[in-house]
Amino acid sequence: MQNIVIEDINNDTTIDIDSSWNYATSKELKMHNIHPYPAKFPAFLASKVFEYAKKEGVNINKVADIFCGCGTVSLESQLNDYDFWGCDINPVAVLIANVKSKNYNIKILEKYYSIILKCYEKNSKNNQEIYFNANERLKYWFTAKSYNELYKLKQSIDNNVPKGKYRDVFLCIFSSILKPTSRWLNKSIKPQVDPKKLDVSIIELFQKQYKFLIKSVEENNKKFKNKSTIKRANILTLKKMPKVDLIVTSPPYVTSYEYADLHQLSSLWLGYTKDYKLLRKGTVGSVYNSEDFDLQKRKINQAGEHIISQLSTVLAPSKLKSVARYYMDMELALKKCYKNLNNNGMIFFVVGDTEYKSVKIENSKHLVKALYEIGFKDVKIARRKISNKLLTPYRDNNGKFTSDKTKRTIYHEEFLISGRKF
Ligand SMILES: C[S@@+](CC[C@H](N)C(=O)[O-])C[C@H]1O[C@@H](n2cnc3c(N)ncnc32)[C@H](O)[C@@H]1O
Repeated sequence: MQNIVIEDINNDTTIDIDSSWNYATSKELKMHNIHPYPAKFPAFLASKVFEYAKKEGVNINKVADIFCGCGTVSLESQLNDYDFWGCDINPVAVLIANVKSKNYNIKILEKYYSIILKCYEKNSKNNQEIYFNANERLKYWFTAKSYNELYKLKQSIDNNVPKGKYRDVFLCIFSSILKPTSRWLNKSIKPQVDPKKLDVSIIELFQKQYKFLIKSVEENNKKFKNKSTIKRANILTLKKMPKVDLIVTSPPYVTSYEYADLHQLSSLWLGYTKDYKLLRKGTVGSVYNSEDFDLQKRKINQAGEHIISQLSTVLAPSKLKSVARYYMDMELALKKCYKNLNNNGMIFFVVGDTEYKSVKIENSKHLVKALYEIGFKDVKIARRKISNKLLTPYRDNNGKFTSDKTKRTIYHEEFLISGRKF
């Protein structure tokens, strides 16, 4: 990591690639992959950050991730015997993160699994009325046959597994099979129907995912002794956050993923909402989060202003508002981090720059400037290559990776930025 001062930012200093951050030295635990999650953090980064923070003199007892997503930092904290606190505004993220951060007794899992299957098989009749009365949005995504089978499965879980960590495991498996069993275009990061998609066997997919979960539990034989608290919360409005020694996080990207839209199948099925659009509110980076935001009243640092002024020639005012709101939200989130970091603590961000219609969106510059202005000291930065996306650094209109250069650029490298509180 190289030191970076505010003047470097203004002078366009080049940031070297630090290859020590490029690759993992050990295999990622299967538990990290029990449920897909967009823009998931590679697990090895978290353990590398712990090593780096210790070398820099941080005494780590408690780690936090303010945008914890599916809980990568949480699980890695547990594996390294640190207490963890995390939050995410997306209820599906919180479910996955909680499931990943706990130990399970395989015999108990097997017992519940066999009861769920028995009860599912007994309940053989498909009830037409159930589909008729279903949430309209779910009817849009599922055929009557798939919906009915999923309904039986969900009932079987709810009726046989008491509320708590074991029920959460089965709900997480259930959630993980929703996209492949719906009409959702495979691997698309946009909600798009594939009219040619065929129905697949719900129960076979559930069984397959369950087996993967069991392998994940078997692989990890460490008894977690430390506390892990993961809350469903908006970091910007959250009243209380504990004091921590290290904050490791990757923020949402500006107007890139719509988390509420992407997880609509899960949030509707699991009863987190009746209208997934309501879950967009408060989501940092969402284009829908700036409807009541007055662009003129923005308060963002000079690096953010520079990005806004460049984008103003290529973006519609509504989109420009979302970008401005994003930088304002990020500055607010950083202030919260500063307040809740113990003295001698460290903040560590993983962030990508991007490009829109040939305008560079330098999130890294904005972040460095914001860190200094908020009071962080000793800010350091490095650049890393994202190895598995190297060959396909573009996305097509469906959001799929492609090597076609005419498509939208996505980040094939990212920045690691640390700051201290002294
Ligand atoms: C890049 S993802 C984090 C991925 C995470 N590092 C992982 O490995 O899964 C950013 C996360 O920020 C969350 N988020 C967006 N706005 C938020 C807010 N206001 N408060 C808390 N979390 C928020 C999103 O739901 C998303 O899960």
